[in-house]
Amino acid sequence: MASSTLICDTQPWKELKDHVEDVKKSHLRDLLSDDERSRSMVVEFDGILLDYSRQQATLETREKLLKLAEVASLKQKINQMYNGEHINSTENRSVLHVALRAPRDSVIQSDGKNVVPDVWNVLDKIREFSEQIRSGSWVGATGKELKDVVAIGIGGSFLGPLFVHTALQTDPEAFESARGRQLRFLANVDPIDVARNITGLNPETTLVVIVSKTFTTAETMLNARTLREWISSALGPSAVAKHMVAVSTNLTLVEKFGIDPNNTFAFWDWVGGRYSVCSAVGVLPLSLQYGFSVIEKFLKGASSIDQHMYSEPFERNLPVLLGLLSVWNVSFLGYPARAILPYSQALEKFAPHIQQVSMESNGKGVSIDGVPLPFEAGEIDFGEPGTNGQHSFYQLIHQGRIIPCDFIGVVKSQQPVYLKDEVVSNHDELMSNFFAQPDALAYGKTPEQLQKENVPSHLVPHKTFSGNRPSLSLLLPSLNAYNIGQLLAIYEHRIAVEGFIWGINSFDQWGVELGKSLATQVRKQLNASRTKGEPVQGFNSSTTALLTRYLQASADVPADLPTRLPQI
Ligand code: F6P
Repeated sequence: MASSTLICDTQPWKELKDHVEDVKKSHLRDLLSDDERSRSMVVEFDGILLDYSRQQATLETREKLLKLAEVASLKQKINQMYNGEHINSTENRSVLHVALRAPRDSVIQSDGKNVVPDVWNVLDKIREFSEQIRSGSWVGATGKELKDVVAIGIGGSFLGPLFVHTALQTDPEAFESARGRQLRFLANVDPIDVARNITGLNPETTLVVIVSKTFTTAETMLNARTLREWISSALGPSAVAKHMVAVSTNLTLVEKFGIDPNNTFAFWDWVGGRYSVCSAVGVLPLSLQYGFSVIEKFLKGASSIDQHMYSEPFERNLPVLLGLLSVWNVSFLGYPARAILPYSQALEKFAPHIQQVSMESNGKGVSIDGVPLPFEAGEIDFGEPGTNGQHSFYQLIHQGRIIPCDFIGVVKSQQPVYLKDEVVSNHDELMSNFFAQPDALAYGKTPEQLQKENVPSHLVPHKTFSGNRPSLSLLLPSLNAYNIGQLLAIYEHRIAVEGFIWGINSFDQWGVELGKSLATQVRKQLNASRTKGEPVQGFNSSTTALLTRYLQASADVPADLPTRLPQI
């Protein structure tokens, strides 16, 4: 396919379009009655099992999707990514998050340089620093051990680390390693988030990690200045050196902020923000909390999937199959959303993280060559852990709109609980739902079945489930640091596969810029109105009226701002 050809103009795309009608003729009930089909839609790698037999897809669909992958040059694109080519063309950067978890002796080039030694220099520095903090050999300005960490960052400098932290919290090994320590995340520029995150903390025992790829993000920098003030007003300005460290690619701005370059942990422009959890962005705060050896296992899990993605034939390649099925659901069956439903409370922050990875990566309107797309790319991602989601939005999924679902289950609970005289263990109870829901969605319940159950006829339409609602199931053996790394990498690569097929740039994010620049204009106006009483001008009548109302109703905010930190 010539690079400027849109994927929707290729023969395999057209064939898939024509194929939709064929597939729609069969209900999932019928598709699932073919055991051979079902068996061939199960793939296993490194303990993780994927069952995609509940997709509205036949073996022919899979063949056609593999042809689409071929015409989209998927293999070449994956190779280009792993070879450090500048596939993020609008930012002229390579995309090498795989290098962040590559074994020490591997060679991965970016711009003619093997980047793996640089990666390991930073990892070694994190290991050493986190051991100093955790052992108490590095103490705060008043000689006390630093037991608590607040990581300041937003977007990719927050969501991935929060997901991994939440997932590890109840893992027995991680729990033991974190005893007596706290890790908190301050992301929102809302002062309430500052208040919530410093409440109960003592600056004397707190280490603040500022995490920002650019070190210019407005929210992060204001939060960083706020916590610098919190530390220096309590302990004096010289305490900042002992209580604040940074993770960034912009070492100049970090130094300007007042952080000792020795206490700065670098990463590189070939790491996209939302793909940065395996860089110092995640590894530093997580190692401070859990110890480097636990986090190294997380990196190893991700690396295992990296190798699988690179070398496994597509028919058995988990991220590739998942990516192709997403494209099938979005672009051919016309289902724009996807529900991420982990049956594990430890994965409660997985969907919010994947929302950013997926929607910031693939929410694009033009091809990588800048041609407007005549089809919609990207997926609307949302999710909650089961069973909570069942009591929230599953009604819509069962009887309302069709939302392809990812069911993610875990064989061994991090925290098994059994009660004498109960029918099953607590984890079996949870997993009963994990196994039941996909079949409920697929099979549904017919009016005939309801009539046989003597359901009053006026209730039959309300109790009917049309079924034929696609899902897939991922079963993890357990949820330790290694498995969490695997899960992360499967989704990262799946999302890249989708972008490669759609022919978009999944690694830039220009869509976040306009809102940022308009906020700058508003910020200037708020300052001018509060300090010089200037009227609101230069906005449309709606924004003018809203701003005027806001300014009038908050006239008690002092014009000349004194310092005020949270009062709770
Ligand atoms: O939301 C836009 C964005 O640029 C994300 O891509 C990024 O993860 C986030 O802001 C934070 O950026 P930084 O790490 O540079 O502060």
